[in-house]
Amino acid sequence: MSDMNQVAIVTGATKPRGLGRAIAIAFAKAGVDVAVSGRPKSREGLEATAAAVEELGVRSHLLLADTTDPQAILAGVAGTIDELGSVDYLVNNAGVGVGSAVFLENDERSWDFNWAVNVKGTVAFCEAVLPHMAERGSGSIVNISSMAGIGANPGMPYPYTATKHAIVGLTKQLALEYGPSGIRANVIAPGAINTDMLQVAYEAIAEAEGITVVEAAEMENAGIALRRPAEPEEIAEVVVGVAMSGGAYLTGIAIPVSGGMMPGL
Ligand SMILES: NC(=O)c1ccc[n+]([C@@H]2O[C@H](COP(=O)([O-])OP(=O)(O)OC[C@H]3O[C@@H](n4cnc5c(N)ncnc54)[C@H](O)[C@@H]3O)[C@@H](O)[C@H]2O)c1
Repeated sequence: MSDMNQVAIVTGATKPRGLGRAIAIAFAKAGVDVAVSGRPKSREGLEATAAAVEELGVRSHLLLADTTDPQAILAGVAGTIDELGSVDYLVNNAGVGVGSAVFLENDERSWDFNWAVNVKGTVAFCEAVLPHMAERGSGSIVNISSMAGIGANPGMPYPYTATKHAIVGLTKQLALEYGPSGIRANVIAPGAINTDMLQVAYEAIAEAEGITVVEAAEMENAGIALRRPAEPEEIAEVVVGVAMSGGAYLTGIAIPVSGGMMPGL
């Protein structure tokens, strides 16, 4: 038996108050070494996440790869295995939500961009780790979708809703095929999280409704039973719990972590 730590890859871990950094830190708190991944141009943010991880006494590794670059992803995963010894967990967190809330205002570019980052990027990371996980007979993948991947939410561009639904579908198919190889795959579907992305969403709602950003936030909170967005750490804790032994008998499922949005679901 090796006395090496377990290892997680977390994508989209560049932003100071993003979900990715919170997930990387939650893994580190659980004693897991973390390969933090992000676009080469966001290297500075990634280095800050790596430093936060190392402060918790585990090792980190920079996995520089745009999720639209499958070659860089393959090389980055191989580099992670060389440096940290294995990949036990993969969290596909990187995501974008671009486009218009008005269906007919979306052009092919916004559709292609959401698809490339949210879906093809998730697939490319899965493709890169699956042979390694299958060979070891263990591994756990958590893909970050959204409540917009389970149903429709007001004010969402359809390319976001559609690609977040696609993440649920591909994860279920993967879980079915790889369960016999000891690999689990699940989706976390957050509601609103207090990050830059939510701020941008509030601004879009404010503009569309002719209200202030504060009013837009109040309107959104009114649709949440707990009446507030999640802090990134509250979602991260669930992600890491499901990835690790807390989720040992969970696979192929999309779990809403939304503070009570869409209560009829
Ligand atoms: N904030 C919310 O309210 C909310 C709600 C539901 C789901 N989510 C999902 O949670 C995840 C994290 O969101 P967040 O709120 O932290 O968003 P964010 O915009 O703060 O961070 C997104 C991260 O993805 C990275 N990223 C974007 N495009 C990339 C690319 N091409 N290659 C590599 N990395 C790329 C960014 O650099 C950043 O690190 C996303 O998948 C998002 O869709 C967010």
